[in-house]
Parts: sequence; structure tokens; C-alpha cells
Amino acid sequence: MAASIATSRATDLSFIAPSSEPASGDSSNDQINAAAIVEHLRKHGSQYFPSLKPRFSISIERIRGSTNPVFRFVLSDGKKSFGVFAKRPAVYPENNEALSEYQNYTDFNLSRSEPCGFQCPQVLTLMSGSEVLLTEEAEGSSLLKLIRGPSAVRHPRSMDCLTAVELSAKWLAAFHQLAASTEEPGEVTDHIPLLNGARELDDWLAGILGRELAQSLNHWRHSVIGIWRNSAGPIGRWHGDFGAGNVVVGVDKVTVLDAAFRSPGPQLADLAEFLTYPLVLSCAGIKSPAGYRKIAATFLEGYFGKAELAYVERSLLQDFSLCSLWRSLERHRRAVRTLPKPIRPFAFCYLKIAYGGAFRSVLAGTSLPTTSKDSEIACVRRQQRQTHQGLANLHVTPSAH
Ligand SMILES: Nc1ncnc2c1ncn2[C@@H]1O[C@H](COP(=O)(O)OP(=O)(O)O)[C@@H](O)[C@H]1O
Ligand SMILES: [Mg+2]
Repeated sequence: MAASIATSRATDLSFIAPSSEPASGDSSNDQINAAAIVEHLRKHGSQYFPSLKPRFSISIERIRGSTNPVFRFVLSDGKKSFGVFAKRPAVYPENNEALSEYQNYTDFNLSRSEPCGFQCPQVLTLMSGSEVLLTEEAEGSSLLKLIRGPSAVRHPRSMDCLTAVELSAKWLAAFHQLAASTEEPGEVTDHIPLLNGARELDDWLAGILGRELAQSLNHWRHSVIGIWRNSAGPIGRWHGDFGAGNVVVGVDKVTVLDAAFRSPGPQLADLAEFLTYPLVLSCAGIKSPAGYRKIAATFLEGYFGKAELAYVERSLLQDFSLCSLWRSLERHRRAVRTLPKPIRPFAFCYLKIAYGGAFRSVLAGTSLPTTSKDSEIACVRRQQRQTHQGLANLHVTPSAH
């Protein structure tokens, strides 16, 4: 067995790690028994990879920076090698994430008979008793790197950023079309965790954004709850953490990871989550505003097609964008607190500029492409589609702001 090699996925503070909340599940449950997996792979490796010769070596590498314990194993017979990822997702009373990922990946890949440029990882097995999910390695690099721009390290053979963004949107549209499990959606606040504990954040936010902006954000936050109580917007199968960090971009396809929810959720939240990262990058001056607009337009067109965004969709997207920004800011706030004291003021200043700009742009409606006269037609058409799918009962009171 080769020595374990540390890898780093998202190490610095530069608005880099938008994809996941730290796990707070059953901590007794959060270790991976690497020896048991090696044993399993020794036994089943040739079955998983028929072209692998019977005598093969296995090396292990721990993936650092992931929310859950994740290991990469490489099975090599000297000529060919195959990567396997082992992940132990959190198990909550209401959601066994390992099982949810297993089912989501399997359902999705079974629903696509032809190669289409987007997929979920191929599942090898869910190891019974240990809740460890084994998937085949999807080759490529993270979409985070591509979005960050030309200076970021990029997999030499991956497609360009906008193609990857478009395919990600198409993956999302196809995933949202899958029937959800029959369970009831959870409470609003389950879907938007930061709505719960935001009081402390409010003060902090007011400190960096100014009282007025913080107050108008507060207003919007409550409008999100109102909108959810009225069950507006499509609710169905959703990803729940659809950030660029969960998209692996290969030569001719993208692979979307980490789809850990089974109960129905707010689908537009997935779109908002995806757009948050490039938006913050552009407000931090790491990406140009034009670069962000291209990504947003490509993503929305990939998801909705050519139609303009309907008013309702825009409003909900704005609300969910605020939630995503909130979530991302909270993560960065925690990260700043771990920095050495002398650097903290500079980091806060950076957060203030980046997030202040991002919140303002969402509130002003400039983070999304503009509407046109066709929007009402698009709205009607989409309402018809949603009614047809039995997904939505649109009753949105536009938020006053
Ligand atoms: N099948 C896979 N193919 C390629 N990379 C993977 C695969 N599974 C996991 N990874 C890598 O491990 C990281 C963490 O996995 P992920 O499923 O996103 O877990 P977490 O819930 O901890 O974010 C991913 O960002 C990706 O870099
Ligand atoms: Mg992830």
C-alpha cells in the first residue's frame, strides 16, 4: 500500500470553497476504515474493472478540504490504473446521505441511455454496515478552477469554462425533471439553514455592510420564508449543494457529485447556489463583471432555454441568491476567525468589498440578465409547465424593497 498523500482542494480564503457546509452529523460515524475498503477492493477490483489484471496494487490518498471523509484509491496492474473514491457521508435521522447519493447517482445515470455530456459518478457499491459509498473516479478538474480563470491550474484536457457551465445547467435541468421521492418537503428552515441562526450574523453583517443594507437583507430573508409558506416555485428533486466545487469537468463531459437529498426541495435554490460563486469572485475583482455575466447568461440559458426569466423566477432566484450569499459569507466569516489576528482586519475588508458588492447587486436585480417584454409570455408558459408537472402553485407576492 502506498503512503497516504495529502491533497488540498480549497485551501485559501479567496472565496474559494463554496460547495459545502461542514458536516455536523453523527461524529462517531465520520471515519473511514481504509483497511476494510482495501480488503473490499482486493476482492472485487477485477469485477469492478474487468480489464484490470488479477494482480494489482492499491494506493490510498486522503482528499483534504472535503466536508465528509473522502479517500481516493488507485488500483494499478502496472499497465492500467483505475481510480475509486470512497466517501462516508453524514447520516442524519431524516436523511441517510450515503443512501441518498447512491440512489440519486443511480437514478440519474439510469435515466440517460445515450452519452449526453453530463452524468453522475458511476456507483460501484454502497458498503453495507459502514455507509461508505464507492464510486468510480470521474477524470477531470473542478469547475471552481475553470471559473476562477486562466491563472488557475486547469486540467490540460478539460473543456472550456462556458461549455462546462452549460453542461452543468443541462445536468441540473435533467436532474430536476426526475420524479422526487414521495416524501413531503421539509420545513422551510430545513432548506435554508442560515435562516435559523442568523441573529448573530445580522450584527456582524451590519458591521461590514452597513445597517441600512443589513436591514433590507433582513426584510428579504423574511420574504423568502413567506414565499415558501405559500409554496411558490418548483419543489421537487433538488441537489441542495449545487456549487462549482461539486462539478468535475473532463474532456467531453461533466460529472456532478454530492447530490445528497432525497426529499423534495426548492429547485431554484440550486440555480442560485451555482451563480453565487462567480458573482462573489467578480465582486472581489478576481473575475471581470463581463465574465460573470457570460457565465450567468450561459447557465440560465442552459437551464431554461432561450426564454426570458419570468418575474416570479427572478424574484425567487434573487431571494435564494441572498440565502446562498448568506451561507457563503458565514463560511468565510468562520474561516477569517481562524486566521492569525494581524491579518484578520484585511480579510474582513476583503469580505466587505466582495460580499457588499454581491449583496447590492442581487438586491438591485443586476446579478441576473435583464427582462424583456416577452417575460410575461415566458411566465405564463412556465406556469403552465409547472402546473403540468404538478410542481408548483404560484402565489408570489413581490417583495417590497
Ligand atoms: N467519483 C469521483 N470522481 C472524481 N472526484 C471525486 C469523486 N468523488 C469525490 N471526488 C472528489 O472528492 C471531493 C469531495 O467529494 P464530495 O462528494 O463532493 O464530498 P463532500 O460532501 O465532502 O463535499 C470532490 O470535490 C471531488 O474533488
Ligand atoms: Mg462536495
